[in-house]
Amino acid sequence: MIQKRILSGMRPTGLLHLGNLHGALGNWVELQESGKYDCFYFVADWHAITSEYSSTECIKDNTLNMLIDWLAAGLDPKKSTLFVQSAVKEHAELFLLLSMITPLAWLQRNPTYKEMQAELTSRDLSTFGFLGYPVLQAADIIMYKAYGVPVGVDQLPHIELTREIARRFNFLYKEVFPVPEPLLTSVPKLLGTDGRKMSKSYDNSIYLSDRGKELHRKVASMFTDPQRMRKKDPGNPDICNVFTFHGIYSPAETVAEINQACRVAGIGCIECKKMLASRIEESLAPVHERMDYYQNHLQEIHDIIADGNGRAAKIARQTMEEVREAIKI
Ligand code: TRP
Ligand code: SF4
Repeated sequence: MIQKRILSGMRPTGLLHLGNLHGALGNWVELQESGKYDCFYFVADWHAITSEYSSTECIKDNTLNMLIDWLAAGLDPKKSTLFVQSAVKEHAELFLLLSMITPLAWLQRNPTYKEMQAELTSRDLSTFGFLGYPVLQAADIIMYKAYGVPVGVDQLPHIELTREIARRFNFLYKEVFPVPEPLLTSVPKLLGTDGRKMSKSYDNSIYLSDRGKELHRKVASMFTDPQRMRKKDPGNPDICNVFTFHGIYSPAETVAEINQACRVAGIGCIECKKMLASRIEESLAPVHERMDYYQNHLQEIHDIIADGNGRAAKIARQTMEEVREAIKI
């Protein structure tokens, strides 16, 4: 059976948190384990420069750390191709060629462009590269003739643009590119310790790498049912983030017990959180084991990436030959 190729990428912006693990990354591992797809996953380090151009010194370390997180989470270089965008220079060539055929209006009306610019006010994002972000993303995707792109809803506008760019190329020159489909990741809503969206920039994240005292400290600081001031007040698990986490990390009986006990003040939040921290730690044990292994075998990561970069580059070179022939250049 020929497996359909799928491809996805992440910007190396720092340590991955539990929101990432139960969202995009977990989905990547599942797709890999399904055996149905030829999976390509890459670190979008050039994309990181679009917003971090004035302080690029962390990108390399973040790339390595993200690869460690990926391997720890269960991405398996024997099953998936893991590579780094900047190692496959063909992405830059395809980006350039696609930029020639992409109407400015498509980029200017891109909702993520407007949102990011409004959000990241601390940086000047009125650059050519930032506007062209989705063109580079389109190059990443169609380079590998990916059939599907596993992403969260926030990336849908970029996939739609990729589809339009692929169609335009095919129409202007030659049918080189399949038009890729988004493979939507449904993400359980894991909020940060302060009840807002879990995000590095809010300093409310529980990281994949958190364990022991640090993990217990963070879980102990989690917001709960705001109406529950004292232990003798009954609580409402339906509006408690700690309870949502139990839903993921604890066995069904425990979840049912907490659900009942909380409502009649039969369990206190401190105890409930201690249980949760232990469950998270238990469930992350294999992740931490792999993390320790790779941290002590960094050379192995370099070998894995060299191999993945090579596999990716081979396809990229073939695609670029077809592209140059289609454009007659
Ligand atoms: N824009 C994506 C994000 O911020 C990262 C990305 C870059 C990507 N190139 C890609 C995702 C290609 C999927 C396919 O999450
Ligand atoms: Fe939340 Fe648990 Fe406290 Fe109930 S007992 S409010 S579920 S932390």
